[in-house]
Amino acid sequence: MLSKSIETALNKQVRIEAESSQIYLSMACWAETKGFEGIASFMYLQSDEERTHMLKLIKYLNERGGHATITELKAPKTKFGDFKEMFEELYKHELFVSQSINDLVHIALEERDYATHNFLQWYVAEQIEEEAQAKTILDKINLIGDDKGGLYLFDRDIQQLNVQSSVGGKN
Ligand code: FEO
Repeated sequence: MLSKSIETALNKQVRIEAESSQIYLSMACWAETKGFEGIASFMYLQSDEERTHMLKLIKYLNERGGHATITELKAPKTKFGDFKEMFEELYKHELFVSQSINDLVHIALEERDYATHNFLQWYVAEQIEEEAQAKTILDKINLIGDDKGGLYLFDRDIQQLNVQSSVGGKN
């Protein structure tokens, strides 16, 4: 049985994952309208992954005697200055999510809720991957700078990343 404070904290994370999904969906749309199919499909996949992160929390909450609550979400940004800016935002957002997971782990330990602590370890591992991936992409984008040809190749390469992460079956 979850305590009220753990239930509230987990529900906060449900919302964060839902908002993450919306943020990446919006990034996918922006990239798609700019004609960057690879980046767009990468973002669509990221958005789907965030939804699975959200659903996993929802199931846990409901199975442990809590109630997952679905709330309104903050609208994401719809336009970006350039891809560098967009990927910087993705990276920063993942750092924010990691911090939020760390806070949750802290609360679980404080309350001696070892089941929730154990459940959260999946998210801790996932955030290490997500941060590393976002950082790798950002480093590449920084190398490319304003080079159009480089961006074209990057758009093609990022498709490969999609294939790898779906083959890897991260979720
Ligand atoms: Fe669910 Fe990208 O954090």
